Amino acid sequence: MNGEAAILAVSGLTSGYGEAIVVRGVSVAVAPGEIVALLGKNGMGKSTLLKTVMGFLPAREGQVTLHGRDVTRDPPYRVARQAIAYTPQEQAIFQDLSVGDNLRLGQPDARWFDEELARVGEVFPFLKERLGQRAGTLSGGEQKMMLVARALMARPKLMLVDEITEGLQPSIIQRLAKALLAERARTGMAMLLVEQNVRFALEVADRWAVVKLGEIDDEGRSDAPDAAARIAKHLSV
Ligand SMILES: Nc1ncnc2c1ncn2[C@@H]1O[C@H](COP(=O)(O)OP(=O)(O)OP(=O)(O)O)[C@@H](O)[C@H]1O
Ligand SMILES: [Mg+2]
Repeated sequence: MNGEAAILAVSGLTSGYGEAIVVRGVSVAVAPGEIVALLGKNGMGKSTLLKTVMGFLPAREGQVTLHGRDVTRDPPYRVARQAIAYTPQEQAIFQDLSVGDNLRLGQPDARWFDEELARVGEVFPFLKERLGQRAGTLSGGEQKMMLVARALMARPKLMLVDEITEGLQPSIIQRLAKALLAERARTGMAMLLVEQNVRFALEVADRWAVVKLGEIDDEGRSDAPDAAARIAKHLSV
């Protein structure tokens, strides 16, 4: 798709840590309301790509635009202000704060809280019942769900999510897929999601790309009959 119509356009992005180049000239675009999945084996640079888009890591080359605006050198808080919700792979929760306060943090408008909580509470009912519980005492899967809920509650135009299905039981993954598709249908939100779960990725995403050694190795539409087989070939050892 062409970069100008995209909500997110990444072009020729290169980044890494110290001397090590991890993301090598990646280009990927996400249209408004579109869901794109990034797949790939461990250590291929998927999380590094999202961190660079968010501004947690500097881009060495290339460009990131949001709604056509160049944010390549913007710090994360400015990127987030463009209605971007980012759910990192490592659990970014405030252990000692309550579930309610974790959900409140990062919301652009406190007045939405009750309405948004009621809505995400339909997907993750435990959240409503545990608002006062210390977040660090939630199970790993519950913490993951809390992070997804927090992102959805911010009414993002674009969600960048890094392996949200990791450690979740199949029934919750199913519920999550339905919830994300419903949210997209309701608000037109777009998503760039990094996934290891190919089934979930193909169910939710319109398009997919496989990242290999920091480059996009293959990409296609999720409804292509050979999508699952092609991805499986790339992910097999
Ligand atoms: N903070 C860091 N400092 C140095 N190297 C790093 C750092 N974070 C990641 N790397 C390296 O960068 C490479 C890509 O890591 P990244 O986390 O982007 O992979 P990934 O595709 O997200 O993998 P996974 O599927 O396991 O989450 C790896 O070799 C990793 O060791
Ligand atoms: Mg990762």
